[in-house]
Amino acid sequence: MVKENKEYEFLVEKVQELKKARNALILAHNYQIGEVQDVADYVGDSFELSRIAAKTDAEVLVFCGVKFMAESAKILSPNKKVLLPVKDAGCPLADMANVEKIKEMRKKYPGAAVVAYVNSSAAVKAESDICCTSSNAVKVVNSLKEDTVIFLPDKNLGSYVARHTNKKIILWDGYCPVHNSITIEDVKKAKNEHPDAEFLIHPECQNEVLEMCDYVGSTAGILKYAKESHSKSFVVGTEKGIIHRLKKENPDKKFYPLQENFICPDMKKITLKDVVRALEKMEYEVEINGETRKKAYNALERMLKLSK
Ligand code: 13P
Ligand code: SF4
Repeated sequence: MVKENKEYEFLVEKVQELKKARNALILAHNYQIGEVQDVADYVGDSFELSRIAAKTDAEVLVFCGVKFMAESAKILSPNKKVLLPVKDAGCPLADMANVEKIKEMRKKYPGAAVVAYVNSSAAVKAESDICCTSSNAVKVVNSLKEDTVIFLPDKNLGSYVARHTNKKIILWDGYCPVHNSITIEDVKKAKNEHPDAEFLIHPECQNEVLEMCDYVGSTAGILKYAKESHSKSFVVGTEKGIIHRLKKENPDKKFYPLQENFICPDMKKITLKDVVRALEKMEYEVEINGETRKKAYNALERMLKLSK
């Protein structure tokens, strides 16, 4: 135990030292392991982290999350070095969309706008009109002049948007394997175990599950709701990593995962050792070709402008 603590302290010191030497900023998503969240300069949801990436002065961004998030940071800050500490930290949902299919859909629905959830590749963003995250999807869709919207790649977030807009939403057949696997039975079981708790859930879950919960929102939305609520216990319907921050920010409240296995394996790939190695060796650098970057930038910047 003592040995483990010593190693942990050594790694934390190393990160601080290297961060200074490299003029680097560490960004971590709310699902990252606790040790990584604790050394980060900012911990947030996809939207907050893109906003920070767009305006920081740091020369290097170490993105502790998954590939599409690091790509968004590079698209918004092309002159900075953006590092993803583990090369194959990906997002299966993002892999469910591709450029060819968007072109096909555009032909099938001429005049429709294409909205890409940020959980998508740079190439897919480049083919889209505007991006959104789970915290602004409804706002983004309602801001468009088009009455029909092709929403990709998450069908659950798309259905959630469809229930909050008058526009016609064409859904894409994509889903997050982690959130989509949550069932009505899982919620019933958690309700039995925690009858006094409020239920907070991410919109990547299926509608039948969302309907049973008290609050639906992005990871930042869930954190805000829990802080402001007078309730003392919460069941959390999103990736378990968020519980670290929920507990840290609300020491007097209790948080339970909706499902013990509510884990995104890709979000768990980066360790503190990987952060040290990334800063030491300056790896793995995210690169996006110029034309794709410019087009993807327009889609992301159009989203960011809506919130300015
Ligand atoms: P947030 O934008 O809510 O942080 O969610 C990102 C994500 O990958 C959800 O699975
Ligand atoms: Fe992708 Fe789902 Fe993991 Fe989020 S939780 S990064 S959507 S696989």
